[in-house]
Amino acid sequence: MKQNFCSARSWIPALLLFLLVCGYPAAAQRRQPPPTGPWMNTSLSPDERAGLVLKEMTLDEKVALLHGVGMPTDEPVTPENAPSNRGVGYAAGVPRLGIPGIDMSDAAYGVRSSGVNGRYSTALPANVAAAASWDPDAAFEYGALIGRELRAQGFNMSLGGGVNLTRDPRNGRTFEYLGEDPVLAGTLAAKLIEGTQSAHVIGDIKHYALNDQESGRDAVNINISKRAMRESDLLAFEVGVTEGNPAAVMCSYNRVNGDFACENEYLLKDVLKKDWKFPGFVLSDWGGTHSTEKASGAGLDNEEPGDFFFSDKYKAAVEAGTIPTAELDEHVHRILRSMFAAGVIDYPRQRSVIDPFAGFETARKIEESGIVLLKNDRAALPLNAARLHTIAVIGSHSDVGMISGGGSAQVDPIGGNAIMPEGKGATHWQEEIWFPTSPLKAILARAPKATVKYDPGTDPAAAAAAAKGAEVAIVFAYEWASEGMDLPDLTLPHQQDEVIAQVAAANPHTIVVLETGNPVTMPWVNAPSAILEAWFAGSDGADAVGNVLFGSVNPSGKLPNTFPKSVEDLPHPTLVKPPPESEHFSGPVNREQWAKGLPPFQVTYDEGAKVGYKWYDAEKKPVLFPFGFGLSYTSYKYSALQVTPGDTVKATFTVTNTGAREGSEIAEIYAMLPEAAGEPFKRLVGFTKIKLDAKAKQTVSVEIDPKYLSIFDETKDGWMLVPGDYTIMVGGSSEDLPLKAIVNLK
Ligand code: BGC
Repeated sequence: MKQNFCSARSWIPALLLFLLVCGYPAAAQRRQPPPTGPWMNTSLSPDERAGLVLKEMTLDEKVALLHGVGMPTDEPVTPENAPSNRGVGYAAGVPRLGIPGIDMSDAAYGVRSSGVNGRYSTALPANVAAAASWDPDAAFEYGALIGRELRAQGFNMSLGGGVNLTRDPRNGRTFEYLGEDPVLAGTLAAKLIEGTQSAHVIGDIKHYALNDQESGRDAVNINISKRAMRESDLLAFEVGVTEGNPAAVMCSYNRVNGDFACENEYLLKDVLKKDWKFPGFVLSDWGGTHSTEKASGAGLDNEEPGDFFFSDKYKAAVEAGTIPTAELDEHVHRILRSMFAAGVIDYPRQRSVIDPFAGFETARKIEESGIVLLKNDRAALPLNAARLHTIAVIGSHSDVGMISGGGSAQVDPIGGNAIMPEGKGATHWQEEIWFPTSPLKAILARAPKATVKYDPGTDPAAAAAAAKGAEVAIVFAYEWASEGMDLPDLTLPHQQDEVIAQVAAANPHTIVVLETGNPVTMPWVNAPSAILEAWFAGSDGADAVGNVLFGSVNPSGKLPNTFPKSVEDLPHPTLVKPPPESEHFSGPVNREQWAKGLPPFQVTYDEGAKVGYKWYDAEKKPVLFPFGFGLSYTSYKYSALQVTPGDTVKATFTVTNTGAREGSEIAEIYAMLPEAAGEPFKRLVGFTKIKLDAKAKQTVSVEIDPKYLSIFDETKDGWMLVPGDYTIMVGGSSEDLPLKAIVNLK
């Protein structure tokens, strides 16, 4: 008789197998009946499947998909938010048809503040650190880890993918973004999104667009020409959207050329949906919706987190005919097709256990590839543990932790804030949160025979005294930053400039390690022998820093943002702040007030597309550390550039590791356009990271996307290659480009 394997129960070892083969599907089925309906036919396209669902939906069901139900994290349980995962946003699904709700969590550098729900996630190094790796594979891993952890926590949508350019290095969210160049930022954002969506989580790109300062972000009106925005901020989004295929785009709070971004027909319809053919849905930043008919007509698909404009008002507008049914259906279709495309319907979310060790390892590796060695006089680094007897470690709570970036990006450290008494580590909006990753311990572990002294670095004279007799002094300096604020300037706070200056004066072997998201000025730059930019370093930042300090990792990161000499050199030395009436509403806000919005104030980007290095280049302003700059413990030589014209221009060149140890070099390719283009500054058009053994060399070819060589022609409303001579330059930083070739393009 044939045995029914699933009923076997006679011996213990088979029990495990039994549970796996029989018990698990049974349990899974009990948890969630699989959705049925013709739309579950996976051989159909996401659009076809969405169309089939849409046909079955009632008006109320359709409207329910167009808005959120509040912020479950902050609110008591209600019938509407009860099915949610208690993240920052939830849009109800259509249970009758097996369409799940959309459960959203912030996830810039890890799953946001989930400690309140008893869940924890890996804090990756800040996004700007990932950008400093210039490594698309690292960006993919970054996004994939976030996707996996979101899913494991029970979310099916990420609110990550920040790609606003660093137009002003004082922007408090610089750490959440990917630098000042649209090609670098867009390429990495695309990979990050791809990674997130590989875990069957809806990916997002934000904040579309030109939300480049936090001050007065709800009120500010950004004035900028179409050409300038298409070649700068919008290009970063264009690359991210067209290469990364995010299921969602989050429109931003600010106004652009008169209209709020979330009701801006040019941004949402003309550019995003028509020109870039974006098939997904647009959701508003939290509270960024200001109208019903106007926003819907302009291309907003979903209001978050609440329902001021896209709920009862929306239904009434459809019933009254002021919003055509076809327009409603298009919004619903976009949301549904994105859910099918991302896989959130075919692969329902399922809570599971996060692998913390794998997470820490990924975080550490990305940090190691993003740390930038800014200065290394007389090979002060790496440190040789065997020869070191005394080390002074100074500043920034480096005995216990490393700082992280705040705001909606904030990830909760396991065990709480490292500088608070145990158990008091709850995170709050806009507070300094220190991750329990101790540089002091990492240094002790790597130099076990040395005597290591710690000084908190709060008093410059005491810090100098601690540094004086040591063979090496390592000063940690930090600047915290967060959403909802901009930095007053680029100066390190808390007298840290003075601490570094005095320590370096007392000890000729001083190493400075910076934990910042933004560029900072360094009045003391000539004094220390080495400087590392470690950014906000993530869950295992101290090990990454330790590995670079002691040389088991050769630094390879390069700056994704210029470090200027002074705020005076910025396009806008004074950041335009909102007048008091544009700062916030007084008292509780009703729908009518929200519809009007705060009174606008004007910021004009007359620097146009000259963002970051393009500005300093064109204006001939010397900088402290240029875009694309970063040292290594080895050295590289560039040779033999050949540029092949054609539909796609190709740059072929050789990079040789001329030093004695293995390393990875980021090779950067820039172009200067013909004079007729009217852009007398170079632009990044390609890059590649090459791993080379000591003395090894490699010839690489990089294809240059024709768009990166084009200008945006407003009269034709399209990209145009200006015929003429193009100078192609290759090297290791925007200011060190030893190879040059001229190519004529038509
Ligand atoms: C931020 C977004 C975030 C949202 C939800 C807003 O204040 O600008 O980046 O996704 O809040 O927390």
